[in-house]
Amino acid sequence: MDKKAKKRVLQMIPYGAYVVGTKTNEGAEHLMFGTWLMQTSFKPPLVAFALSEDSRTLANVRESKSFAVSFLADGMEGVAESLVDGSFKKVKTERTPSGLPVLVGAAGWIDCHVLEISEKGDHRIALAEVVDVASGPGKLMPLDALKWHYGG
Ligand SMILES: Cc1cc2nc3c(=O)[nH]c(=O)nc-3n(C[C@H](O)[C@H](O)[C@H](O)COP(=O)(O)O)c2cc1C
Repeated sequence: MDKKAKKRVLQMIPYGAYVVGTKTNEGAEHLMFGTWLMQTSFKPPLVAFALSEDSRTLANVRESKSFAVSFLADGMEGVAESLVDGSFKKVKTERTPSGLPVLVGAAGWIDCHVLEISEKGDHRIALAEVVDVASGPGKLMPLDALKWHYGG
């Protein structure tokens, strides 16, 4: 396979800017910037999120069978940068009714109950049902707005 073409073509897949919020067993909040999200079913509403096999987020998801996804709104570049830098204290959060951390000022969030985890590849696919949702102001920030890539 032509490696350069693989990277170029896979990086054409459009992505958004999201934050995955989870809780540890002890109830501590954890936030992770991520982009590999898609809807996979209307009825029931299902989504798939690909989570790095060695991430704390995946470990939390395995334990709690739940995660929330905040949809970053246009203009939230600073929040994305803080999360990737690990400057979590700069990021304002609130909790979903189920107790998961989501971003204040997001374009929306979904609360997800995990149904299964596919164990293939260096990212594991968490297939989950959307069990709660909130819509906020603004539109989802595309990953392109940050000039970052995560495919290839
Ligand atoms: C542009 C960008 C997109 C990312 N997308 C994902 C993603 O979809 N899934 C993922 O597991 N990690 C993604 N990451 C990496 C995570 O942000 C994080 O560094 C890593 O997975 C560790 O997460 P943890 O804090 O849960 O251990 C992305 C990082 C960047 C910079």
